[in-house]
Amino acid sequence: MGFPKDFLWGGATAANQCEGAYQEDGKGLSTADVMCLGAHGVKRKITKQIEENEYYPSHKAIDFYHHYKEDIALFAEMGFRVYRMSINWTRIFPNGDEEQPNEKGLAFYDRIIDELEKYHIEPLITISHFETPLALQKYGSWANRIVVKHYLRFAEILFKRYKGRVHYWLTFNEINCMSTQPWVSGGIESDDESIRMTAAYHQLLASAKAVIMAHHIDSENKVGMMYAGHFAYPNSCNPNDVIATMDFMHKMLFYCDVQCRGYYPAYKKQELQRLNIKLPIMQGDLDDLKNGTVDFVSYSYYCTHVTGEKTKGIMKGMNGLDTGYKNQFLPKSDWGWTIDPQGLRYSLNLLYDRYQLPVMIVENGLGAIDQLEKGEVHDDYRISYLKAHLKELEKAIMLDGVDVMGYTMWGPIDLIAASTGEMKKRYGFIYVDVDDYGNGTYQRYKKDSFYWYQKVIQTNGEYI
Ligand code: BG6
Repeated sequence: MGFPKDFLWGGATAANQCEGAYQEDGKGLSTADVMCLGAHGVKRKITKQIEENEYYPSHKAIDFYHHYKEDIALFAEMGFRVYRMSINWTRIFPNGDEEQPNEKGLAFYDRIIDELEKYHIEPLITISHFETPLALQKYGSWANRIVVKHYLRFAEILFKRYKGRVHYWLTFNEINCMSTQPWVSGGIESDDESIRMTAAYHQLLASAKAVIMAHHIDSENKVGMMYAGHFAYPNSCNPNDVIATMDFMHKMLFYCDVQCRGYYPAYKKQELQRLNIKLPIMQGDLDDLKNGTVDFVSYSYYCTHVTGEKTKGIMKGMNGLDTGYKNQFLPKSDWGWTIDPQGLRYSLNLLYDRYQLPVMIVENGLGAIDQLEKGEVHDDYRISYLKAHLKELEKAIMLDGVDVMGYTMWGPIDLIAASTGEMKKRYGFIYVDVDDYGNGTYQRYKKDSFYWYQKVIQTNGEYI
C-alpha cells in the first residue's frame, strides 16, 4: 500500500477566514465582511454595511495578516508540500471594478509566496473563495455579466504576476454553493431560481475564460474546479427515493459537468426549459465553455447526505444538512455533520468515473471544540477522524485506481467557520488562542494532531 511519491500533502485556508486586517493596506469590503457571528443552528445575519453593534468575525479572524511568517513556518514544520490559500479579491480590487490593482494588496501576497518558496511549499491558489467585493452589489453582483469582466481582470493580474511561481489554481471555491448559499458564493440574495442560474452561468463562463487565459499565459498552469462535496445516498431502495436522489445529485453535479465536459448536460437543459429559464448565452460563450475545461477536479469532503421523496428542491445552508432524512448508520460531529470516511472513497470513485481527470481533496476535517490545557491540546478525536478518512483515500488509490493528486486538510490552523462564523468550531493542527468574539492572545499552540500529521507526511502516508 502507499501514496504516490509526489502526493501533495498540505492544508487549506481562505483569506476571509484567517487574515483579518479587513481594512488594512487599502482592502475593500467583501461579502464575508458583512456577515455577523452565528451559531450552530443560528444563521449568520448579513448587514450589507458595517453596523456598530454587530460583531463581524472576518474583521480580525486569526490575524494571519500579521502572523503569516510564523504560521507558514509551522506548516513547513509539519512538512507541507502544498498550501491552498485564497487571494482576497478586495485586497487587489477594493471595489471589484477598478481599472488598476491595489499594489499594497498584491505586495502582501508576494510576501506570502516568498515565504512559501523559502520552504519549498507549492501554493494552490483559489481565485475566489466566498470573497466577492461588496461594491459589486451595485451591479447585482454575479447576476450581471459585467462581473465576469471584473473577475477576469483580477485573474489576469494574478496569472501574470505569479507566472512561474504558482502552478496550481482553482477558479471558484465550491461553485455549486450558488444553489445552496448564493450570498456566500457570489453576493446573491435572491431565492429566484432564474437569478441564481444566471449568476451560476456567469461564474461558469468566468471560470472557463479564466482557464483559457491561465493556459495562454503559462502552459505550465494547472487549473482546477472546486465542488462543495455534496454526495447523497438514497433513503431506501424504493425507486422514488432513488430517482429523487438522482435529481438532487443532478442539481449539484451539473456545475462539475460544465467545468469538466465543457457544456451544459442534457438533464440541466431540460430542467431549465421546464422552468422557463433562459440563460443569457452570447456569441462565443459556448466555445469558451468548451475550450475552458479544467485540468483537474477538486472538492471539499466533510459528510454525506441521505435524500429521497421528501427532499424538496435544493438543500439550504452551507453543507446543507436538512434533507428531511438522517443516516442511522453514521455518527455526527458536534455541529451535526455526519462522519462518513467510506463516503470519501465512494465520492472519489464517483467523480473519477465520471470525468477521468486527476482528483484532489482540497478540504476535509473535523470542526470540534478543543481544550487548551497547559499549552497542549489532546485532540485524539481529530486524529481518528482524519486517520479514517485517509485510510479510505488510500483505498481509492490502491484498490480502485483513482488518480488522486493530493490532500489539503481544511483549516490546518484554527480559523473562523464559514457557516457560523464561530472560532470555537476548530479544525486546526495549530490552536489559536482567540474566542468567538476576538478575545485572546492570538498565540499559536501545536495540538497532538500536529505531530501526527507531521509523521504522516514524513512517511508519505505509511504512518496513518
Ligand atoms: C467549506 C468551505 O464549505 O467548508 C470553507 O469552502 C469552510 O470555507 C468549510 O470553512 C467548513 O465549513 P465551516 O462552516 O465548518 O467552516
